[in-house]
Amino acid sequence: MSSFAAMVRFENVGMRYGRGPEVLRDISLSLEPGSFHFLTGPSGAGKTTLLRLIYLAERPSRGLISLFGKDLSGLARRELTPLRRRIGIVFQDFRLIPHLSAFDNVALPLRVAGTPESKLRGNVRELLEWVGLADKLEANPPTLSGGEQQRIAIARAVIASPSLLIADEPTGNVDDAMALRLLHLFEQMNKLGTTLVIATHNAVLAARSGRPVLHLENGELMRGPVSARQTPRPPSAKADQTKGHAGQNKEPAVS
Ligand SMILES: Nc1ncnc2c1ncn2[C@@H]1O[C@H](COP(=O)(O)OP(=O)(O)O)[C@@H](O)[C@H]1O
Ligand SMILES: [Mg+2]
Repeated sequence: MSSFAAMVRFENVGMRYGRGPEVLRDISLSLEPGSFHFLTGPSGAGKTTLLRLIYLAERPSRGLISLFGKDLSGLARRELTPLRRRIGIVFQDFRLIPHLSAFDNVALPLRVAGTPESKLRGNVRELLEWVGLADKLEANPPTLSGGEQQRIAIARAVIASPSLLIADEPTGNVDDAMALRLLHLFEQMNKLGTTLVIATHNAVLAARSGRPVLHLENGELMRGPVSARQTPRPPSAKADQTKGHAGQNKEPAVS
């Protein structure tokens, strides 16, 4: 085991829904602070389930999970709330608030955190402009395309500079050029200290990133060749640095 606490650690984790078969089997992994992994595998392999376990939407059927160095099995539900606040999530089905504008959806995490309006306005606008939605700030999600909604969901997940960013197929609804632009945004987040796990069935995008890949097949983690091994990269930044608000500083001023 490494000398510093892993951001996410699974030990022989199994997961079943109800009385169904195990959809994840014997998953062991350790994600270091500052790491950036892709999670690949065919539809039904268990990617979303694995992410749901990480972002605390599910408890495992067996095995141990620790997050931010804390063993989750010992924690009560209410003790999970502060941990959840440190996680940014891009849901596969977006989960935007339909009656709020794009701007208000993205501003929400900052407002919840008590950021003053004067401080958040410029950052929210800048980020939405950066993901190509400059002319959609006042639009409500149901009036937008899937790709546009997906970019709002990404902006909302990253705006408050979470310690951990979990994204479930975040480029599934955008074209290749936008997918690369979003990959660049994720890289910037990582440079500023955010740990990332991104599920995708776009093996090309994962390969292009050069990041380590966790590959699921039928509920099992494959330890394949070099690219698929969980080689921890040296932390590019201390997890503590994420306390600053990247979304309010450098990001998305990307040249
Ligand atoms: N809420 C659920 N109840 C029962 N089975 C589920 C549920 N969610 C997912 N599954 C099953 O778990 C397996 C893995 O699904 P999922 O994690 O969504 O895979 P992926 O994201 O890789 O497509 C699939 O066989 C799926 O049918
Ligand atoms: Mg999925």
